[in-house]
Amino acid sequence: MDTVNAPWTPTSWRDRPAMQQPQWPDADALDAVLKELGTLPPLVFAGESRDLTSRLAAVSRGEAFLLQAGDCAESFDRLNADILRDKLKVILQMAVVLTYSAGVPIVKVGRIAGQFAKPRSSDTEIVDDIELPSFRGHIVNDASFSPEARTPEPKRLLQAYNQSASTLNLLRAFTKGGFADLRRVHAWNQEYVASSNEGQRYEKLAEGIDAALRFIEAAGFATDLDERLHQVDFYTSHEALILGYEEALTRQDSLTDDWYDCSAHMLWIGERTRQLEGAHVEFLRGVENPVGCKLGPTATTDEVVALCEALNPTKLPGRLTLITRMGADNIEAALPPLLRAVADARHPVVWASDPMHGNTYTSENGHKTRHFDHVLGEVSGFFAAHRSEGTWPGGIHVELTGENVTECLGGADQLADADLDLRYETICDPRLNGRQSLDLAFRVAELLGD
Ligand code: PEP
Ligand code: CO
Repeated sequence: MDTVNAPWTPTSWRDRPAMQQPQWPDADALDAVLKELGTLPPLVFAGESRDLTSRLAAVSRGEAFLLQAGDCAESFDRLNADILRDKLKVILQMAVVLTYSAGVPIVKVGRIAGQFAKPRSSDTEIVDDIELPSFRGHIVNDASFSPEARTPEPKRLLQAYNQSASTLNLLRAFTKGGFADLRRVHAWNQEYVASSNEGQRYEKLAEGIDAALRFIEAAGFATDLDERLHQVDFYTSHEALILGYEEALTRQDSLTDDWYDCSAHMLWIGERTRQLEGAHVEFLRGVENPVGCKLGPTATTDEVVALCEALNPTKLPGRLTLITRMGADNIEAALPPLLRAVADARHPVVWASDPMHGNTYTSENGHKTRHFDHVLGEVSGFFAAHRSEGTWPGGIHVELTGENVTECLGGADQLADADLDLRYETICDPRLNGRQSLDLAFRVAELLGD
């Protein structure tokens, strides 16, 4: 079938092969839940997604930078205001560092309020000769290794919706209700971050911002009146993996008659589900949200240009973000041909670097981890490739938390293998902690300033 020209409907993905879908044991129970989801209010509004598209359009022109960050997988067991606040603090700190040093607006997008589904390399997991379905994220099943926990449970789709709604509610309160006020720039520096070198470097920068604000006020500008100083626009995103859930939250906008997936502002397609004729590309080509697509080291120029054609046939700036996750060793060789091919095809994409997913390995003591040096190596390679091709390194896409976890190695604290046992708390991939995240922001700011 011709992917680009066949008619699209919210259900047309059902005629395509859909990778990475759970084997729901009870089709009727699943249908009942999806019907109920279809009656519930949208989580985000079409107009907000359109705003994000126009901000990403600025990124595609080289006039802004994208910071997309959050958990690998959100957890049903950790819906907690303090954890959310601390994650937001780190992301706001990173954004301030990047804005201050790079002098361009930072478009802030969380892997948050819906990032519950995980693609897996194998459908099942075997422990002590017992084979059970793999853990696919809390929207599907639970991580503990028992038949009850691992059996896909459709009611979890409703819990994912409800947790996304609570998270979004809190996010809106934090970002619009005074917490994100630039005059509170010092308060985002959590104690365990503030005591580090990066934290102190941040403190100096924050003092500079204070001084600039005082100067502007003294010069007679009424800073109280400008809401841009007191509020932040923060957008949500997740991998659009479980297509029944995404379909149920897809609604027709009353203003434009266009379809929007109202589960998040931005959705992306993972490395394992980006087949041109597959269900995920089919579903996302028809919604008007900004969409992302991950690109691993095997992505070919033909594939990437075909994905651009399928997902953004009208070449709308801001519509498509290509998120490369090649691995630190591959990026400098693998990226330039893709940059050239997309530029030659005149597709106005945002290029973002995910320096996490191509750099994961298992440590000696058995933890899935990443080394800060490899993360930095991939980001540096990404910048170098863009510099050599004359394209704009548009953003970074990272897995982080505000908590003082020990999941990724290295960084200024030189976390070592033995430290991973201390506070390894992720339910999926290893995340940068607050210090490592801030450190990364300073390094990226330097690359942007070069
Ligand atoms: C992810 O972003 O969590 C993920 C699974 O990434 P990728 O599809 O790039 O492997
Ligand atoms: Co991940």
